Amino acid sequence: MRQVEIGFLGFGNIGEGVWRLLEEMRGETARREGISFEVRRVLVRDVHRQRGVEVPQGVLTDRPEDVLDDPDVQIVMEFMGGEQPAADYIERALLAGKSVVTANKMALSTHWARLNAAAQRGGAGLYFEASVCGAIPVIRAMTDSLQANRVERLMGIINGTTNYILTRMTREGSRFEDVLQDAQRLGLAEPDPTADVEGYDAAYKLSILASLAFYTHVPVESVYREGITRVSPIDIACGQEMGLTLKLLAVAKRNGDAVEARVHPTFVPSTHPLANVSDAFNAVFLRGHACGELMFYGRGAGDMPTASALVSDLIKAAGAQRHALPAFFDAADGVHIEEDWSSVYFIRTRATDKPGVLAHVAGCMAGHGVGIASMVQKGAPDADGRVQIVFVTHRAHEQAVMSALEEVNRSGRTRVESVIRVEGVE
Ligand SMILES: NC(=O)c1ccc[n+]([C@@H]2O[C@H](COP(=O)([O-])OP(=O)(O)OC[C@H]3O[C@@H](n4cnc5c(N)ncnc54)[C@H](OP(=O)(O)O)[C@@H]3O)[C@@H](O)[C@H]2O)c1
Repeated sequence: MRQVEIGFLGFGNIGEGVWRLLEEMRGETARREGISFEVRRVLVRDVHRQRGVEVPQGVLTDRPEDVLDDPDVQIVMEFMGGEQPAADYIERALLAGKSVVTANKMALSTHWARLNAAAQRGGAGLYFEASVCGAIPVIRAMTDSLQANRVERLMGIINGTTNYILTRMTREGSRFEDVLQDAQRLGLAEPDPTADVEGYDAAYKLSILASLAFYTHVPVESVYREGITRVSPIDIACGQEMGLTLKLLAVAKRNGDAVEARVHPTFVPSTHPLANVSDAFNAVFLRGHACGELMFYGRGAGDMPTASALVSDLIKAAGAQRHALPAFFDAADGVHIEEDWSSVYFIRTRATDKPGVLAHVAGCMAGHGVGIASMVQKGAPDADGRVQIVFVTHRAHEQAVMSALEEVNRSGRTRVESVIRVEGVE
């Protein structure tokens, strides 16, 4: 039996989950893998705080060096969260030759190059399955099972909080603010929900997924990001009538040497597999040139689902003869980030109910090469005599659509109230 000594950075929800799972699986891990894991030290902020599991005396510490500089700690597991000091601690461990298993998408996506370089220099492994979509083995699938593919596109529901909010807004016709408050009460949204509802969390994760999918570093700053705070029940209802379901989607595509990555509220056909991913569940849908379409579905957060990914990575790290690191193509190979992507657009406007208004909108769109696929008037005129008109475009370029809509707004007769991209329609 091989004994592997490990150190924890952090011991909150996830850390305690990992501790429990290691205990629960101790016998099986020994029998199946021939490994016994021993947690030597656990870094926390407050060593006196009551913990949810019993930890032997002397294991908890508030001194990072007790984990990072202990020569007997072979593998470091990081679940303290936040960008810093987590990124610096991960780097220190890697440079010291300790493999790191992390759940931290923010530290990883923000310091990707530095951390991979440190792993290379230290001859250590960097494992991060838990950083994207909790229990869903999507990272491992991409690195270990899809190497024979050129992944062409990837679309994911990779933030459970926003999926829960949008699911309830869709089912109940409720307002964003009301569902958010409820989600906070139920512990499904943080007291400060910005990272989730503004799409930052999904952008960190997409940066990691797209980088692996396309063998090209897609920096988090290059991910276009728009959250769900401005989504209105009116848009959701209009979409539903047109057979569309609203999701916060992470979308990444590769077209030749051009790579695009974006997170925004997105309509998908209600028959699309992603439309039926509800509540706090996550899913990633991808298409490779050889494997065709694949979908990964499951729990994207929570202590035990996340611990499942972390402990699996730990077992992999402990058993690895050689730690693999991703090799990327870059600008020298002609790969670049595309900002003017194309999509289908759902556009809701409020327009003066007078002759010529529709012709003016159609003219602005046509002037920028944007074709209108359908146009529907919704409901009766409001008190100011304005009617709601919804357009769906043919596939068009983002910049052309935005320029056309600026021109529509300038007329004063028509106000653009929302623009939502539509994916999953070829
Ligand atoms: N929660 C989820 O469902 C989930 C899912 C996937 C990934 N993750 C990721 O997992 C990580 C941890 O999440 P969590 O929910 O377990 O967080 P958490 O409950 O807030 O736990 C954070 C832990 O780290 C310790 N800590 C934080 N800053 C520290 C510092 N500067 N020095 C020493 N210790 C420090 C805290 O110590 P004290 O206990 O003394 O305060 C606490 O034990 C995050 O990166 C998160 O993004 C979470």
